[in-house]
Amino acid sequence: MTRHFLPSLLLILALSASAQEPARMNALVNTLMKRMTLDEKLGQLNLLTDGGAVPTGSVVNDNVEKKILEGKVGGLFAVTGVAKIRRAQELAMKSRLKIPLIFGLDIIHGYRTTFPIPLALASSWDMELIEKSARTASLEATADGLNWTFSPMVDISRDPRWGRVAEGAGEDPFLGSQIARAMVKGYQGRNLADKTTMMACVKHFALYGAAEAGRDYNTTDMSRLRMFETYLPPYKAAIDAGAGSIMSSFNDVDGIPATANKYLMTELLRKQWSFTGFVVTDYTAINEMTDHGLGDLKTVSARALDAGIDMDMVGEGFLTTLKQSLQEGKITQKQIDDACRRILEAKYKLGLFTDPFLYCDANRAANEILTPDKKAVARELAAHAMVLLKNDNNLLPLHKKGTIALIGPMVDNQTDMLGTWAVGGSPNRAVTVLAGIQRAVGNSATILYARGANISDDTVLVRNASVFGKKLDVGSPEQQLQQALETAAKADVIVAVVGESSEMTGEAASRSNINLPESQTKLLEALAKTNKPMVVVLMTGRPLAIVKESGLANALLLSWFGGDESGNALADVLFGSYNPAGKLPITFPRNVGQIPIYYGFKKTGRPQPNGPTQKYRSNYLDVGNDPLYPFGFGLSYTSFSYSDIRLSSDAIMKGQPLKATVTVTNIGQHDGEEVVQYYISDPVASIVQPVKKLVGFQKLFLKKGESREVSFSITEDDLKFYNTELKRVIEPGEFVVFIGTSSENNKKASFILK
Ligand code: NOJ
Repeated sequence: MTRHFLPSLLLILALSASAQEPARMNALVNTLMKRMTLDEKLGQLNLLTDGGAVPTGSVVNDNVEKKILEGKVGGLFAVTGVAKIRRAQELAMKSRLKIPLIFGLDIIHGYRTTFPIPLALASSWDMELIEKSARTASLEATADGLNWTFSPMVDISRDPRWGRVAEGAGEDPFLGSQIARAMVKGYQGRNLADKTTMMACVKHFALYGAAEAGRDYNTTDMSRLRMFETYLPPYKAAIDAGAGSIMSSFNDVDGIPATANKYLMTELLRKQWSFTGFVVTDYTAINEMTDHGLGDLKTVSARALDAGIDMDMVGEGFLTTLKQSLQEGKITQKQIDDACRRILEAKYKLGLFTDPFLYCDANRAANEILTPDKKAVARELAAHAMVLLKNDNNLLPLHKKGTIALIGPMVDNQTDMLGTWAVGGSPNRAVTVLAGIQRAVGNSATILYARGANISDDTVLVRNASVFGKKLDVGSPEQQLQQALETAAKADVIVAVVGESSEMTGEAASRSNINLPESQTKLLEALAKTNKPMVVVLMTGRPLAIVKESGLANALLLSWFGGDESGNALADVLFGSYNPAGKLPITFPRNVGQIPIYYGFKKTGRPQPNGPTQKYRSNYLDVGNDPLYPFGFGLSYTSFSYSDIRLSSDAIMKGQPLKATVTVTNIGQHDGEEVVQYYISDPVASIVQPVKKLVGFQKLFLKKGESREVSFSITEDDLKFYNTELKRVIEPGEFVVFIGTSSENNKKASFILK
């Protein structure tokens, strides 16, 4: 039964309301705001945490309960579980106006049931699955009392030194935008007031993924053209999909921290994009503007509000200084009212004014969390996220027979299966590679195991990547290597499972060197000398520079961090019950010096030649320009042939799409999926264009021997680009369409736009 706590007039308004009825929402919010004091309004702008999960800064709040009772808190985050959330909401119901709290958390890749990291999910190029991952996370999180997630992170990044590439969808604005949309739809569903949906918070606005030198929290500097063409589209796509909130980023943009950047928060977000939700800062981002050198807390808080920020995460600058700034005329009452209104509206849309305890259903908590169906989704996602990078002589799939040696520090390792930002998850639930493979083979094959190496023996890296307690160097390197070689000697095939630890990726985990740790490379070198066939499985949260390692492997499977079902999903792929179909959403460089590296680079006047390095060309003395593995690349146990492209016409008229068709045939020995990718290039334009850009893709399943026609409709929109006035324009002339299996391997055809 619904319990009612609101004053009666408000209650009548709320009960007769639905999220689709803005007039009723306005009436309720207006009535409420007339009764609110300035302090109560400022209270709504205040988001606190008691540090219940993982604090991501040095500050956590005190006296949280007292502040709730006094109406000084708008929401809480990192408080989880129906009992605790109910207790906090009950406190809010004892405050003068009984305004419900909103409850947020970083639900990034699953909640209690942990899915593969977002970069891995992006590798599936499967929008239905990605939406399902968000929907499933939402079902679990809302059953546990939560109604707001700090996800999706849609920051484009072309710099794998940045640890947070793990949390995003990679390098491409088109793919990133599709994923942003799917995530928002998955979290929010059709109706935010449904108790199984939660509000998305798109982050980090803006350009956080372009941190200079790949160092987290660092400055960002780029042209407006690049911003509009490449970095902004996913935020815009998420907003167009209806995301209810957005988080400001830590970095500065054009010298002004995003959190005080009026151009971003008002001009772009509100005026150009018509965003009507609310904007929350990142963790203490207002306070940190003092370290940016913008002034004391009062000054920076006023600047943040003036820029268009609505809610202050943790720092309490709004709560403690805005009253004085108002008296001094630095900000206006309207600015406070607007911010307060947007937060109240969000609570209304979530159904909290009708029932503050809508998400506090102990029955749901008992029955809908960590259920077998959610585990099944985790397994499906983990298998679909894997990318097969090499498979010489069809070494994979393996047969369940003979003796298989599992070697490496990631084989019997629960801690590192989840990857970064799994605050609702628990490594204790993770299925290790050893357990998954043992279960899959049963008595059909003999499984041997040796750890073989520490994750790293580099004392500096070990210290810096062990902040959350797990040591990376736990045994003698020599003894481990010896055992590995003895184990390998008894085997028919080696499966070496190597990679980064979870803590080597994610927030505040930038690396200046993106090699596989040397301890593990040495292990692979020694194993390769045995001349046994070797499958290398790579667990990582970022592209690694693995030229040597990929040379040592006969087969190379990128599994990323797969979440709870890592071991089972890996067994599914290794033994072929699922044929891998993932494609890279981000380029794998040959070495760190090639960064930033991405497929859609702009043309230069002195392009690299075909063949060796030449003087006075845009190339390196010591390495080619080409990546180790390009964007969009990924193999399958089967293979696909592409026919030439058939165009419905050799010219496209304004307003009339053109059809480009290829026939794709599964010419290999297995059924399988293929992601057919469609790119456009504009050979002559008024401003320099990228060599190509992704504008479409389709994922299809083809049975062995089956052929399918795949058509893309080429529209004017696909041919547009931003000009120097930041207008999207289209220029007549020749265009080239590429269709194929990766960003590098394509059929091409050209047509004219008249
Ligand atoms: C800091 C991170 O940058 C952000 O992504 C996260 O949502 C907040 N901390 C809250 O945990």
